[in-house]
Amino acid sequence: MDLALERRFPCVADMEKAAQRRMPRFAWDYLAGGLGREASVRRNLAAMEEVALMPRYLADADAPDIGANLFGHRFDAPFAVAPLGLAGLLWPGSELPLAQAARQHKLPYILSTFANTSLEAIRPEGGDHSWFQFYPPNDPAMEDDMVDRARRAGYDVLVVTVDIPASTRRERDIRNGLSIPPVYDLSTIAQVAVRPAWAIGILRNGVPDFANLSPYYPKGSSLAAAAEFVGRVMTGHVTRERFKKIRDAWPGKILVKGVLHPDEAQDYMSLGGDGLIVSNHGGRQLDAAPSAAEVIGEIRARLGPETLLLADGGVRSGLDIARMLALGADFVLIGRAFLFASAAIGHHGGDHVMNVLKAELTATMAQLGCRTVEDLSACRWRPKGKAGESRT
Ligand SMILES: Cc1cc2nc3c(=O)[nH]c(=O)nc-3n(C[C@H](O)[C@H](O)[C@H](O)COP(=O)(O)O)c2cc1C
Repeated sequence: MDLALERRFPCVADMEKAAQRRMPRFAWDYLAGGLGREASVRRNLAAMEEVALMPRYLADADAPDIGANLFGHRFDAPFAVAPLGLAGLLWPGSELPLAQAARQHKLPYILSTFANTSLEAIRPEGGDHSWFQFYPPNDPAMEDDMVDRARRAGYDVLVVTVDIPASTRRERDIRNGLSIPPVYDLSTIAQVAVRPAWAIGILRNGVPDFANLSPYYPKGSSLAAAAEFVGRVMTGHVTRERFKKIRDAWPGKILVKGVLHPDEAQDYMSLGGDGLIVSNHGGRQLDAAPSAAEVIGEIRARLGPETLLLADGGVRSGLDIARMLALGADFVLIGRAFLFASAAIGHHGGDHVMNVLKAELTATMAQLGCRTVEDLSACRWRPKGKAGESRT
């Protein structure tokens, strides 16, 4: 680990503070915010802090193995970069270095449909462990083509996000008039003027576009017309029929992202999911939604130990990764923390935050007496009389 960076940014909270200082307000609001009173954003963070873990000191776990198996691969650690739409707008040029860092650290990188770098450009940089997150468009020919492009580009894992049945209202973005391309009104220009590092990034990398969707815009359309096209086509509910159609078309693994209800968890597995990502979308869809940490125990109890369960929401440290695994997850996704790191540090941000998270997880497991990540499932501690679901 780079010692100078380690001293400046020993944890994600330090990167978050610096990110806020370096990002224009509309971008910060889009990254950090949720909707409504943002209760579910706070709830995700609070749910993590609620989880107590019981240490044991007689176990020989001085040098824990934090590696984890998933889909026949051995990853360096049980966490992945969650799909983040518009990452290249939030911090210009952040997508490629994050994918490269994930590859070096042997961690999965999940590219969003709404990324600003194309799936074809990311795959060679992210390598075997990059996955594609898919929001199905409401145009069947475009849907078939996108699935086919992901296959041809070499992706093995498709992450189908199901928790956007209709567009939602994020008040911060409405207030800021956030759109793609950004509207350069006086307020936006004033915000950018005081954030020179971001502005220089845009000058270097160009104004971000929806790189995965641009092949479908009418040729020669203006950026504004492209934005209108995306707003119109990229909507729609992933119904049972649509999900089955994607399942039939996709030869690789499918992870279903955005599952919260235990009954639906079972349904998605019956419909051919290879695993589930328990998530409330970082508190960005329904302000009353429970957090993954609150429901994963019940889903694990219902589906049993063999079902592959990933989870996200509010994970900001290696300790939080350990907490999610103790609650029943096999693997964890982390979203905002990676963009805090990119904005705070630049291109080396991904590498640094991955080092920090790995070091924190290693220290946590040594403290708990866990030699392997599987041991974490036995570490959950609850006050007497508060029994809950357990893993087995
Ligand atoms: C700025 C931003 C953009 C996101 N874009 C997507 C997306 O395009 N597709 C998706 O499935 N989830 C998206 N998510 C949700 C994340 O993948 C993930 O579920 C969430 O960020 C996890 O919570 P955390 O940020 O507290 O780690 C986005 C989240 C944020 C913060």
